Amino acid sequence: MKVVQTADAFRAELSTAERPVGLVPTMGALHAGHMALLHRARSANATLAATIFVNPAQFGPQEDFLAYPRDTEADLSQMESAGVDVVFTPALEEVYPRGFDTYVDVGRIATRLEGEFRPGHFRGVATVVSKLLAIARPDRAYFGQKDAQQCLVVKQLNAELNLGAEIVVVPTVREDDGLAVSSRNVYLSPDERKAALVLHRSLSLARRLLEEGGSNAEEIRRQMRTLIDEKPLARIDYVSIADTTTLDELDQITGSALVSLAVRIGNVRLIDNITLGD
Ligand code: PAF
Repeated sequence: MKVVQTADAFRAELSTAERPVGLVPTMGALHAGHMALLHRARSANATLAATIFVNPAQFGPQEDFLAYPRDTEADLSQMESAGVDVVFTPALEEVYPRGFDTYVDVGRIATRLEGEFRPGHFRGVATVVSKLLAIARPDRAYFGQKDAQQCLVVKQLNAELNLGAEIVVVPTVREDDGLAVSSRNVYLSPDERKAALVLHRSLSLARRLLEEGGSNAEEIRRQMRTLIDEKPLARIDYVSIADTTTLDELDQITGSALVSLAVRIGNVRLIDNITLGD
């Protein structure tokens, strides 16, 4: 496995690599969710490339950029075990050199949900993902369904900036009790870890209500909120039942719907989602 620090070296490695090339962008702190992306990409591509870069542009001023878990040695050894061929681990100035002033703004879908609670977040994600796709020119790039809105943002920028990759969305990996695997789960105390199960429980409630014939989206949102509000440690940012492509909130569920939520458990902000009516 080659580890490179510069964009030029990463591009040079991949420009002569056997195709197809699969790319897995990460911010490190690898967990089972990242491993699922790497395994899926490994099985479908001749060359597997990955990146480790904690992107400051996608963190708000009050967010956990400095505290974000970092362990590059452990990440590299996991990447090696997953069969990665080339890893790009740029320094901050390599991605954002002094005077950097070009940002990618994907517009409407980025203003909803996470965009409303984390202003500027998707501008940061879209900018770094555009750069990584432009440098690596992969045939395929892999993202986790847990960040459902990020997947839509990436699909849009890839299409509208003609970056030419196939964007592959990989299902969310869950712990045995249903908690979606996330780098931020390490911040949870044992009591918060128990309370965090309410995210998955409320999504399961939505699924059950729909299966039992409920199609009124506001009633399902209301019951989800009630369930979450029973947990004293939980504070809701949003509970959404939206169109899977526009993210417009739905009144009635008639076809597929993205049920998503963001909940603060103590100081830890968690997100999760499921798609209903596929
Ligand atoms: O999902 C993530 O880990 C990040 O948002 C990404 C796609 C690597 C961009 O920094």
